[in-house]
Formats: sequence, C-alpha cells, structure tokens
Amino acid sequence: MDDVFDPATRGLDRKFLEDVWRGLSAPQKTLPCEYLYDETGSNLFEQITELPEYYPTRTEIGILTNHAAEIAAALGPNIVLVEYGAGASTKTRILLDALTDPAGYIPIDVSEDFLLQTADQLRAEYPGLPVTPMVGNFMADLQLPSDVTGKAVGFFPGSTLGNLSDDEIHRFMRQARHLLGADGRFVLGIDLRKSPDILVPAYDDAAGVTADFNLNLLTRINRDLNANFDRAGFAHRALWNDSASRIEMHLLSLKDQSVEIAGRQFDFSEGETIHTENSRKFDLDQLRQHFTAAGWALELKWLDPSAYFAVLLLRAAD
Ligand SMILES: C[S@@+](CC[C@H](N)C(=O)[O-])C[C@H]1O[C@@H](n2cnc3c(N)ncnc32)[C@H](O)[C@@H]1O
Repeated sequence: MDDVFDPATRGLDRKFLEDVWRGLSAPQKTLPCEYLYDETGSNLFEQITELPEYYPTRTEIGILTNHAAEIAAALGPNIVLVEYGAGASTKTRILLDALTDPAGYIPIDVSEDFLLQTADQLRAEYPGLPVTPMVGNFMADLQLPSDVTGKAVGFFPGSTLGNLSDDEIHRFMRQARHLLGADGRFVLGIDLRKSPDILVPAYDDAAGVTADFNLNLLTRINRDLNANFDRAGFAHRALWNDSASRIEMHLLSLKDQSVEIAGRQFDFSEGETIHTENSRKFDLDQLRQHFTAAGWALELKWLDPSAYFAVLLLRAAD
C-alpha cells in the first residue's frame, strides 16, 4: 500500500484498513470475522450466548459441567490453561473450578478492552492464580510468557475453530502443537452437523441480536476507518451452505449504493452481499484427520445426548 502519507488514512489502523479494502475489492465482498469483536461486538456475542435459539453455549456448558471431573483427572495437576478466543471466559471457570492446583491462565483474544476486563474479574475470583492476558490474533505465531511454570494445556471452546478454513485449521493446530509442546494437551469445543432447522435460527434469532452483532461491523468501520456506511441500507442474512457444511453470515445491500472508506469508494448493487463469517459444522471423523495431520491424537471425547456438540481432549503426537 503506497499511500502512507495520504491524509485520509493517517492515524488509522493500517492492518484493519488493508483487510477491509482488500476484502471489499474481491468479487465476493468479504470481511475477516475477527473484526466483529470490538467491545460492542463482544458484549453482543455474550447476549447471543443466552438466546433461546443459540444452542451451542448451553450445550457445551452442559458437557463441560457433566464431565469436568473426568477432564480434570485426565489433565492432572499444575495446569496452565491457554485459551484461544477467550471472550468472557465463562467456560474457563468450569475447568478452573475442577482442576487440581491450576498454575495459571493465559487468555488470548483480539477484543482488547473486553479481554482486559475479563482478566481483572478472574484475578478477583481466583486470588493467587496468575492470569496473563495476551491481546492479539490467535493465528499469529505466539509465544508463551517466559515465566510459565506449569503444564500448558490449550482450551478452544465455542467452536471458534469453525470460523477457520481447512488451511487455517491446519496452520492453527500446527502452531498450537508447537506452542503447547511435546507433552501438550488441547481441549476443544466443536459444533457438529445437524438439521438447518436448528442451525439457521441459531444465527438469525427472533430478537435480532445476531443481526445487531453482524451490522455492528459497519458501525465499527465507520468509527475506526472514517467510513460512511448507511447501516439501514444493509440487512443481516444467515444461510446454510450444505456442501461446505457451514452457516454463512452475510450483510445484504438493500439498494444500489456507494460507501467511502478512508478516501476510497466501494460500490454495492442491490442484493449484493458482504460475507462476514463462516461457522462450520463438523463431522468428527473428518476433523480427526485434520488433527492427525497437524500432530495431534484424539484422547477422549464427550458429546451431549442429542450429539449437537462435542468436547474433545487431544494429546500431542509425533
Ligand atoms: C465465538 S466467540 C467464543 C467466545 C468464548 N470462547 C466462548 O466459547 O463463548 C469467539 C471469540 O474469539 C475471539 N476471536 C475471534 N477471532 C479471533 C482471532 N483471530 N484471534 C484472537 N481472538 C479471536 C473473539 O473476540 C471472541 O471473544
């Protein structure tokens, strides 16, 4: 990008701007889903987790609660929990309460203010537990703080793995294997394939909270990148893509319109969409092949009675 001195872009987050400009220049316009999570987005996501249609959170919490003692027994004492995309760390508390003498907690998240507030709350709730938040993208090549003393165990709940493509899953799992080491273990929450009659409402709730969450991305771009999206000119759409086994979230342009973002114009025709998120719904056998290829072996798994969701314990393999 050669316009570093352009006054229209001065002082803006270059990475965010480049990602937005690039995404909106593609034939199928797209925006990276991690930008859904500014402080407002993180708070809206917490509201989503409590919606009647949104089965994943309560199902995963049910599995973790029912099997916390088994998970803790399998992991053993002196664990440092490294959580990818920690959000409000709600599920973390279930594990921390069950673990014997946990040695630390390292939440990683892009949503800086939300992450730091949650870390403060956890320090107050678990006095003596070292809590070391890391602000950043979990796809980056991360390093653990040098003073970590316990056994690092990865925790990746919420089926956030389902936001990633096959290539990204491979890269992410290899990096986690490297970060967590030769004795590494990994606890993952995975949403499983099921009827679109259950899936679509979970991402298009009657109260419109998911719509707010999706549209908030335009508000964020307006605020952070000097843009002029007309929020009312776009609508939230959630659709089931059967061949890719994923829910897709889009922002649908309701009219022909142009938007300026830090001095660059982008045109939208009526009916055109911006693809903002994928939530893949997995088949466990296929996922297992991904894990094996990235140096992980499935050690234990727990499902809810309806087989909507799975919690997996992986062990580093050769
Ligand atoms: C679906 S929410 C899950 C939150 C929580 N772990 C749970 O299970 O309820 C995804 C979380 O991951 C964070 N996140 C998404 N993409 C990320 C990325 N690339 N790097 C770091 N954090 C990310 C978001 O800010 C959000 O807190």
